[in-house]
Amino acid sequence: MGEIEIYYFSGTGNSLHIAKELEKRIPDTKIIPLVKFLNQEMVETSAKTVGFIFPIHMAMSPVPVRKFLEKLNLKSVEYIFAIATRVGTQHRAFVDVEDILKKKGKVLDSFFSLNMASNDPKFDDWHEATEEEIAHLEVELQSNLDLIQEIITNKEKSRKKDTTFTREMPAFSIISVFLPFFSRFYSVKFYSDSKCVGCGTCEKVCLSGKIKVVNEKPLWQKDVPCFSCYACINYCPQQAIQIKSPPLVKTYTEVNGRYSHPYATLKDIAMQK
Ligand SMILES: Cc1cc2nc3c(=O)[nH]c(=O)nc-3n(C[C@H](O)[C@H](O)[C@H](O)COP(=O)(O)O)c2cc1C
Ligand code: SF4
Ligand code: SF4
Repeated sequence: MGEIEIYYFSGTGNSLHIAKELEKRIPDTKIIPLVKFLNQEMVETSAKTVGFIFPIHMAMSPVPVRKFLEKLNLKSVEYIFAIATRVGTQHRAFVDVEDILKKKGKVLDSFFSLNMASNDPKFDDWHEATEEEIAHLEVELQSNLDLIQEIITNKEKSRKKDTTFTREMPAFSIISVFLPFFSRFYSVKFYSDSKCVGCGTCEKVCLSGKIKVVNEKPLWQKDVPCFSCYACINYCPQQAIQIKSPPLVKTYTEVNGRYSHPYATLKDIAMQK
């Protein structure tokens, strides 16, 4: 096992891209998809440094990431960091992570938020990031990664207040307290439209195993949780998957495009499970 282990969760490749960049930059680093471990009671690590990389979902850390953290035995670990990729809102992900670590007698030594393209096409003001926008974000990312690489390598503490968000949420500190409660009752509805050709891609990339293609149509199984990774909607080659998202009246996914990170193939996403 590597000296540094990075556990990642990625629906459309943004977080995977960051994990791969750090693996390239920091010697003796191993990147590991965390979804594979979710059926285990307990996950062991013997690494001295452990990191977590994941997207922001509804201003929080994704549920599977928190589930994984609960299972991870961190006894041998000396340094812990987390990196959240997001489109740009404020979030409470590091509070979530630290709450779990505290129960294990650990702290989150360093955390960083990185702004990337949005993979959530359900809103009216959404557009698929252009090549220029992705290139511009990449320049910023690389300079942030220079700093992050140095901090991790030297096992420094870096717990800076987030000032790099691009979308401020008014009264966020109050809202954030209610988010975990609210999110339990909020769900979107996925469906496939007449463009579906029954190719099975959505089942292949579905990180939670919720989608099963039956009679050449995807079925979102009621008894299987959804990880909200949005791999299904973004990797469907026909753009046939739509999202109804109350209280929005219009289904904006019917007119919006889709996004996945240019370096992330659907194989890269599917191999996480
Ligand atoms: C269900 C869902 C909710 C999201 N919520 C937020 C959010 O609250 N704030 C934000 O900045 N980005 C949000 N995003 C955007 C993603 O965090 C961002 O695009 C991320 O980099 C995707 O990473 P991935 O490709 O590794 O999954 C959301 C995306 C999805 C699919
Ligand atoms: S990926 Fe798209 S086209 Fe293929 S089965 Fe799923 S919904 Fe249908
Ligand atoms: S149903 Fe779609 S969003 Fe939910 S876990 Fe599967 S691929 Fe991800």
